[in-house]
Amino acid sequence: MRNRMGILLLTLFALLCTLAIKAAPPQRGQQDQDGKNMNRGVPWAYGFATPFVAAPAPGAGGGGGGRGAAAAPAAPAPAAPAPAAEPEDRDTPRRLPGAAAAFALKEVDNNYGPADWYPQDHPKMPEIVAHGDKAAMVNACGFCHYPNGKGRPNNAGPAGLPAEYILQQLDDFKSGARTSWDKRKRNTGQMIDIAKGLSPEEMQAAAEYFSSMKWTPWTKVVEADMVPKGHFVGGGGGLNMPLTGAEAGMEPLGDRIVETPASPEDTEPMRNPRSGFIAYVPTGTLKKGEALVLRGGPGKTVACAACHGEGLKGNGGFPSLAGRSPSYLARQLYDFQHFTRVGPGSQLMQPVVANLSEDDILAIVAYVASLQP
Ligand code: HEC
Ligand code: HEC
Repeated sequence: MRNRMGILLLTLFALLCTLAIKAAPPQRGQQDQDGKNMNRGVPWAYGFATPFVAAPAPGAGGGGGGRGAAAAPAAPAPAAPAPAAEPEDRDTPRRLPGAAAAFALKEVDNNYGPADWYPQDHPKMPEIVAHGDKAAMVNACGFCHYPNGKGRPNNAGPAGLPAEYILQQLDDFKSGARTSWDKRKRNTGQMIDIAKGLSPEEMQAAAEYFSSMKWTPWTKVVEADMVPKGHFVGGGGGLNMPLTGAEAGMEPLGDRIVETPASPEDTEPMRNPRSGFIAYVPTGTLKKGEALVLRGGPGKTVACAACHGEGLKGNGGFPSLAGRSPSYLARQLYDFQHFTRVGPGSQLMQPVVANLSEDDILAIVAYVASLQP
């Protein structure tokens, strides 16, 4: 990637130098050039209703834990827990439209060999993607990321990413260079353990498999003021599912993105890999995001296409971004900005995000997610 892109990168580096390059992440209470908060957290991106508050580091003298500490604003009351559900029937085979085989729930969520509803939708899975590696306690990649690599907003969609980029990310998870800013997010820890358990051959097979598939539309982005009431399920940073029964209703969206299954039952419990997501974003966000993504702004950021390619469809070793989950994207921007994602590739991203407020991040990811992949 570096060879092919050398000249472009040099030009960009010059450009990036015109931005205030910070050696450290935003500090508690810091504001951007428009007076917007830079350290309130984006809990919706990590799968929580309330912001993460880091425990103060010993002797941090009120610094709130140094790197990545969050100020705690008045948080909205957490959603009420779901009413006690009937015990789930895990043994009776169930069907999805167009799927040749039927699967019981215990097969659907078998993390060492989850149901493959639509084998015709993807190439033959390598063993590590289909079944994981039980001896090494590595779950099947296809369990969280689905056999087609589209994944869920609370994990990631490795489909359609460059193989060399995927390998680098696995290395970064393994080395500790890629962690979650929000320490409550449990499945990032699982991903880290998985990367540590993989052999080089398994990494290679998984990277080639996921990169061989194209990224296709998966999240519909809709501007809205009112959204269905939801709650995060799964614990430790989960999926936003709409409330049902007496608790169902609408509520103001406010200053966040609500990304939720387009068809709740299809996603949970069925894990239907043809059923995507809908992301509600505040009215007016797309226009603001478009301006930042296409043109950057003096002292703010640079146009993303310079590296991520025309329409943000990817470019050489640079990952594609168009049409990907806005919650996932926001988490990554926040992790770069707060230096919990510090692998070799992050050096190019850090100056891009250094001066973004949380409102900017929200607008950018809403627009990027709305782009046709
Ligand atoms: C227990 C669920 C789980 C399993 C199983 C899992 N992952 Fe992940 N993976 C995650 C989560 C969660 C993230 C995103 C972490 C974050 O946002 O902080 C992730 C992120 C990734 C990314 C980064 C994608 C990007 O765009 O940078 C890659 C690559 C990846 N996983 C590959 C794999 C491979 C290969 C396997 C199988 C060997 C696997 N994962 C198995 C949960 C999982
Ligand atoms: C100077 C080149 C450059 C520019 C400009 C740039 N990026 Fe990146 N971006 C990268 C590189 C390199 C990576 C891979 C980072 C890594 O390896 O961790 C990346 C990764 C990302 C990721 C994580 C992708 C994933 O799958 O996890 C996101 C999100 C992202 N960039 C968003 C943006 C946005 C939004 C902009 C414009 C505001 C932008 N980038 C501008 C170079 C750039």
